[in-house]
Amino acid sequence: MAPQRKRIVHVADAAALAERACDELLELARRSIADQGTFRIALAGGSTPKLLYARLADQAQRTEFARWQVFFGDERNVAPDHADSNFRMASESWLARGQVPAQNIHRIEGELDSFQAAARYEQQLVAAFGSRSVPRFDVALLGMGADGHTASLFPNSSALEESRAFVTSTWVEKLGCNRITLTLRTLNAARAVYFLVAGADKAATLRAVLHDAGEAQALPVRMIQPWDGAVTWFVDRAAATQLGAD
Ligand code: 6PG
Repeated sequence: MAPQRKRIVHVADAAALAERACDELLELARRSIADQGTFRIALAGGSTPKLLYARLADQAQRTEFARWQVFFGDERNVAPDHADSNFRMASESWLARGQVPAQNIHRIEGELDSFQAAARYEQQLVAAFGSRSVPRFDVALLGMGADGHTASLFPNSSALEESRAFVTSTWVEKLGCNRITLTLRTLNAARAVYFLVAGADKAATLRAVLHDAGEAQALPVRMIQPWDGAVTWFVDRAAATQLGAD
């Protein structure tokens, strides 16, 4: 197990976070495309990534989007045109611009029964990566909830125990709904993880995750420990107020 490489990138605000994460993503893509001819990215859901995706939409002259393979870290159990859909959010912010070829966009079919959607996505990953080994994303983008969840891995969830599947369906008690999510096994196989954390409501949790000891299952984001990958935290000033001079 390689020592985990963790970096914290401090930025002023959400717009600066989008700009810095975008620049680093483009460099990562450049290296991946040069090394392997492709760049495989798992997108985060929620609201923080919107500005990053909108910025990516203006970078067609800086990268070969035709070499990008775009996946999703998780999805709500809704149709792709539903207001809660992560696919809809990413489409409206970026993918609908058509720079990434449609066949390179791998959507989680949230409109299906969540167990069926998880099983079908696992098959999509096996086909896209050409292997039954755990898929290794070049980068997984992740957000963090104030409760310490990431992707759709929520505190004390049974999904945290899933050690074989690449994708799983999970009942989220606090939301009263099912979600479909990449498992820890898949997320920890990523070659790079970018956490995008902005806003004062994340400050206490960010301090707990980065500086406090404690039960990992209570803060699933702590369980993201890529076994051979680098973790970069992009945090804005409002989220970093309790970090001290780290
Ligand atoms: C989702 C995301 C989720 C998100 C966090 C942070 O589907 O909502 O996967 O893990 O990243 O809840 O969301 P915000 O960026 O909106 O704060």
